[in-house]
Amino acid sequence: QQYFNPSLPLKGKKALVSAGPTYEAIDPVRFIGNYSSGKMGYAIAEALEKRGAQVTLVSGPTTLPSPTNVEKHTVISAQEMLDACERYFDESDIVVMSAAVADYTPVQVASEKIKKKEDTFRIELKRTTDILASLGKRKTNIQTLVGFALETNNEVENATDKLKRKNLDFIVLNSLKDEGAGFAGDTNKVTVINRNGEHQSFSLKPKNEVAEDIVNTIIRHQETINA
Ligand code: CTP
Ligand code: CA
Repeated sequence: QQYFNPSLPLKGKKALVSAGPTYEAIDPVRFIGNYSSGKMGYAIAEALEKRGAQVTLVSGPTTLPSPTNVEKHTVISAQEMLDACERYFDESDIVVMSAAVADYTPVQVASEKIKKKEDTFRIELKRTTDILASLGKRKTNIQTLVGFALETNNEVENATDKLKRKNLDFIVLNSLKDEGAGFAGDTNKVTVINRNGEHQSFSLKPKNEVAEDIVNTIIRHQETINA
């Protein structure tokens, strides 16, 4: 048992963070991916570590340097990300799923490079497992589970719906409408919604500061759990 240190409120806590895109293979040289840079998730992993948590980062393909003092596991596909997250979930006090996981994956992966033939070409896709929702089913009341929501319309309503459906403590809504917010850049503008439907809107700021805001929310939640 550690002595409480106000600057390291998460000392003794384990955290799991997912970050980045997933790549779903089509053939040996092609995949379906998305524009996620992983920056938001990496910033959250760093912010949790700075406050004393022991952090495991499950990352899709990114070009970012590994955060220091964080155990990083690199994965490619949604299925690999699911397997890694399930492995670390039960032991984690704090779980933040910020990865942009593919919702669909090819039904078949061609073993050889697909040659061009017809003018049109179809790829049949099937749903992937929703990692966050499957973790939500296993969540205990001493764990803090945080998800993200990317919406372009009815944002708060859709995000609140995701929070409930996936059994989360908080959902972080990305405001895509604002200049400077979103996937690739270094800044973000978010609204954090809790289970009571209360929301807190933060201003546009660098992703590492957004991460600190999110981590402060998590710290307060862990304090109420442990009080
Ligand atoms: N998520 C996940 N596994 C998936 C899909 C999404 O863990 N297969 C997580 C994301 O990491 C994020 C949250 O679910 O924390 C919401 O992702 P988002 O794409 O906004 O929502 P979806 O539930 O996939 O719904 P839709 O894309 O249809 O809006
Ligand atoms: Ca999705």
